[in-house]
This record gives sequence, C-alpha cells and structure tokens, in this order.
Amino acid sequence: MIATANGKPVSITGLGCSVPDRVVTNAELAKLVDTTDEWIVTRTGIHERRLAEPGDLAMSELALPAAKDALEQAGVSGAELDTVIVATVTPDMAFPSTAAILADQLGSTDAAAYDLSAGCTGFMYAIAQAYGMIAGGFSRKVLVVGGDVLSSILDWTDRSTLVLFGDGAGAVVMEQVDVGGFLGFELGADGGGGPNLWLPGSGSRKFEDADRFVKMNGREVFKFATRVMVTSADAVLKACGKDVADVDVYVPHQANIRIIDHAARKLQIPREKIVVNVDRYGNTSSGSIPLALADAAADGRLRPGKLVLMTGMGAGLTWGSALLEWTSEPEGMREAA
Ligand code: ACO
Repeated sequence: MIATANGKPVSITGLGCSVPDRVVTNAELAKLVDTTDEWIVTRTGIHERRLAEPGDLAMSELALPAAKDALEQAGVSGAELDTVIVATVTPDMAFPSTAAILADQLGSTDAAAYDLSAGCTGFMYAIAQAYGMIAGGFSRKVLVVGGDVLSSILDWTDRSTLVLFGDGAGAVVMEQVDVGGFLGFELGADGGGGPNLWLPGSGSRKFEDADRFVKMNGREVFKFATRVMVTSADAVLKACGKDVADVDVYVPHQANIRIIDHAARKLQIPREKIVVNVDRYGNTSSGSIPLALADAAADGRLRPGKLVLMTGMGAGLTWGSALLEWTSEPEGMREAA
C-alpha cells in the first residue's frame, strides 16, 4: 500500500524519547544463559540494552516522559491534542488502551486515543495513520508514541531471543506545517509469516503450553527482513519520485547490524547517512525508529530540508517505510526517563 502527499504538508514538530536507566551488558546476559559477548556482537552488533527491572515498568510509564518531551518541543499542550496513538505490543493491559491511559495523564481530555499493533513496524503504521488523519481533516494535532517494554514478554532462559531485545519508547507530535513534511509512505503485511515471530497465548486463541513469551524463527525473520528493508524503501522512493542519492539520513529499524548493513549495501546508502544505535539499545520494537530519530537529532543530522528515509519491519510479518523532509529543528534529546 502506497500513499503520497497531495495537500498541505504534515510533519513531525516535536520528538522525545525514553529508556529505562538500567544498562544490561552482554556479559551480564552471559551469566543467565549460555552465550558470549563475542557471539552477540558478531551476530547482531548489540553491546548493551536498557531493561526495566522485572515487573517494574508499564508501557504508559515508559511513554509518558517521551510524550512530554515531544509536546514541549512542539510547543503543544496535552489539551490541544485531538488524537493519541500508541504503537506497542506490550500495552499496560488489553484494555483500556495504553493511549487512553497516557492521554489522561497528559490532560488530553477529549482526544481520541487507541493502541495500534503492528509489531516492530508499529511506529511506521502509526505515523502513516496520523498523517492520513491530519491530511484528511479528521485531526489537527496528533501524538504518536512507539515503544515497548519487551522485557515483560522475554523468556529469560532463551538465549536465542533474550540477547536481541531492549526496552524503549519514542514519541512525536505531528501537525500541518508550511514547508517540508512527509512525502509518502509504503506499508504492507504478510500474515502467512506470522508464526515466525509471535506471542502465542497472549490473546483469545488457546495454545497448548503457551507461556506468553516471544517465539522467533530467527533465520526466517532474517530472510524476510533483508528482503523487505530493500523492497519497501525502493517502493516509497519510487512513489515519491526520489532517488536513493537524494536521501540525507537513513533511519532503519534497529534489529540487527547485519540486516542494516545488508539493506544499506543493496540500496547503496553510504555509511555516514545511516543512523545506528542497535549497539546501545538492542531491538526496542516500536521504539526503535523514534529512538534512532532522536539520536540523529542529537548529533545534528536532522536539519530542516534534510530528506529522511525510515524503514521498519517486524511481527505480522509487517513492514513500512516513510519519506520525510525534516521540518523542525530539535534542541537536543532527553536521554532517559
Ligand atoms: N548465544 C550463543 N549461541 C546462540 C545464541 C546465543 N545468544 N542464540 C542462538 N545460538 C546458537 C544457535 O543455537 C545455533 O546453534 P547450532 O548451530 O548448534 O544449532 C547457532 O547459534 C546459530 O544459530 P542461528 O539462528 O543460525 O544464528 P544466526 O546467524 O541466524 O543469528 C539471529 C541468529 C541473530 C537471531 C539472526 O537470525 C537474526 O538476527 N534474525 C533476525 C532477528 C530479528 O531481526 N528479529 C526481530 C525482527 S522483528 C522485530 O523487530 C520484533
């Protein structure tokens, strides 16, 4: 599915992020499961991640500081928001939505508020949806949060998943602007690949021996990821009439440095344009792309007029890309909650 801008521009005008204070190194995980720092770094590029103390952090608590920072940067109050979307697979609970809980805490009294589930691609789906709602005249100021407390669904005895993930969230305010803004989106899903990355036992379907931990077929997800990271980016560039050489900042989903390197090589994006923080945060699911945007803002790469390509992929299996001409100029990002 492809959408391209055809009306008044819509952009990100505020950006915030939030991660737990607790840094967990590969060496610490090697005390829990049969792994090594060398294996993790070689196969994934991850050196450390942020993880909440077990049972100590709800998604809305992780989201709140990120949301406040994004609002402050945009100069928008919670009361001005008319829509709040939280993209997550680790909501506080099935209902009420984490977005409704967050909206209440932000004073967004009458805002529509709902959660969106698209795995690690959730943030991409949510910004596309926010774009459509603003461009279509349904909303004026939307808060989008992408994030996950993945530590709450990790099997702490499974080395094949434990070493990959971290907790983190990012938030953006989206509204109409005069210049720049989103040029287009490309989204898709292949439900047939769903069992390659899933959380059986977390909903109404009954599973034998379901333990509500992430299950992943790493090799299949790797193959899927290396394919869609390229095809999705190509599709959005083509739909927007842009060439890959026009891209100034490439913000890929931070799942594995090998997937990022493969996509960048195929797309022919030089290293200096790629934002990488998987080494410090691991895979934070829906938090991954906004956390990487925050890093690019902090190191001065997100300047007005810069063309930003974002591509995510994840459970579903899902994928999504966006092309954005950056509008706002963030002052610098808050590091942690
Ligand atoms: N430490 C040491 N050994 C390990 C570990 C570990 N943490 N995990 C697995 N191994 C072992 C396996 O048991 C296997 O051993 P065997 O050969 O004796 O059977 C060996 O290492 C190789 O396993 P592979 O799965 O083939 O390793 P691979 O090179 O494929 O790397 C990885 C695994 C890193 C998971 C890779 O497949 C990958 O990155 N896949 C994509 C994962 C991903 O991106 N997931 C999230 C995307 S969507 C989202 O973001 C939620």
